[in-house]
This record gives sequence, structure tokens and C-alpha cells, in this order.
Amino acid sequence: MKINTAQFFKSSAKANQCPKEDRPEYAFIGRSNVGKSSLINKLCKRKALAKTSSTPGKTQLINHFDIDKSWYLVDLPGFGYAKVSKTIRATFGELITDYISSRKNLMCLFVLIDSRIPMQEIDLAFMNSMIENGVPIAIVFTKTDKLNKSQYATYMKKYEEQLLEFWEELPPVFYTSSKSGLGSDELLNFIEDLNSKW
Ligand code: GTP
Ligand code: MG
Repeated sequence: MKINTAQFFKSSAKANQCPKEDRPEYAFIGRSNVGKSSLINKLCKRKALAKTSSTPGKTQLINHFDIDKSWYLVDLPGFGYAKVSKTIRATFGELITDYISSRKNLMCLFVLIDSRIPMQEIDLAFMNSMIENGVPIAIVFTKTDKLNKSQYATYMKKYEEQLLEFWEELPPVFYTSSKSGLGSDELLNFIEDLNSKW
């Protein structure tokens, strides 16, 4: 699948301000600076549809993008910036928690992981809570262009092996780069398949 038209649709400061749940949507989540907004731009072949920044914390609202007038891509604020937190809710933010628990049209939550960084407790905790709550997730490794060949061969494999110490099986996994475009076709085909089940 290729995206023909991509347009900013709406920014929401609260989950109940999000657009009507009348079509499928796919949200990108992960720690600040992992590359959520960049990947959305890459998929849409647009340079600045979603705002990116080298300073973490750029995206602070729930941003809906209208894709081909038939589905939404959703750019979420990064999590993991709060240093100490007592509950998952405090860690990931009320906005994100409300969004995830309320959107009936969320077909898949793409959890972005920086391919260069070893497993972080906050990512594992987040994914575990999604699985426990029955939220469909897929793992998206980002910034693979920053790895050399031997790192590429070992880093993500190690990550997946670690996950399998906790889980019986892996969710769908994608290897991406917003620089080279690696993984974009696979992601779009995955979305196309889910759209057909709407
Ligand atoms: P927040 O909105 O702050 O949570 O960040 P984000 O996850 O949306 O990250 P963003 O897309 O703004 O990217 C953060 C930085 O990483 C920017 O400087 C991007 O240019 C860079 N970046 C993102 N993806 C890639 C990638 O695949 N390769 C490389 N080399 N750089 C990337
Ligand atoms: Mg962003």
C-alpha cells in the first residue's frame, strides 16, 4: 500500500476531544525522541507533517493525521520523561492512558524502541501493561541506520531474546529507519491488512 494523501486533522489535549471513532487508527508511542514523528513523516513521504525535534518532548498533544480520507495515523507524546513515578498512570501520563483505554478504533499501537539502546524497564513495563489490558501492539525498532552491520546483527536479536524470557511469543516486529525508509513498506502492508478487517 502507498499513502496518497496525508493531512493534519486535529490536535487533542484530552482523549475525549479526539475525532469520532468512525474509522481505523494506528498510534505511535514510545519514549521521547525515539522517532515517532519522524516515522509518521516517512510513511506519509512528507518532511514536516508531524513536527520533529532533537529535543525530547516535542509532541505534547494527541495528533491525528487523516490518511487517504479513510484511516488515521496518530502521533502521541513521548513517555519516560518523569524520572520517578509511583504508578503506571503517573509514568505514562494520564493523556496517553486515557487515549489507549478509550479508543475503540485503535487497530494497533506501534511501540517504538530505539534499536541502539538496551532494553529499558519503562518500555517493558509499558508493553506488559498493554498486553495485560488486551491492547494490540507491535514493536517497531527505530533508527537502524545508526547501527553498523555487526550491531544490526546482534542488538535487536538480543532485545527479542530478552523479551522471550518474559513472554511466550513476540508481537509483530518491524525494523525501521526514517532516514533510509527501511521497514516503511512492511509497516504499510501490515496496516493495509488490518484496515481490510475494519
Ligand atoms: P517526541 O515528540 O519528543 O516524543 O519525539 P519523537 O519520538 O517524535 O522523535 P522525533 O521524530 O522528533 O525524532 C527525534 C530525533 O531523532 C530527531 O532529531 C530526528 O531527526 C531523529 N531521528 C528520528 N528517526 C530517525 C532515524 O530513523 N534515523 C536517524 N538517523 N535519526 C532519526
Ligand atoms: Mg514527536
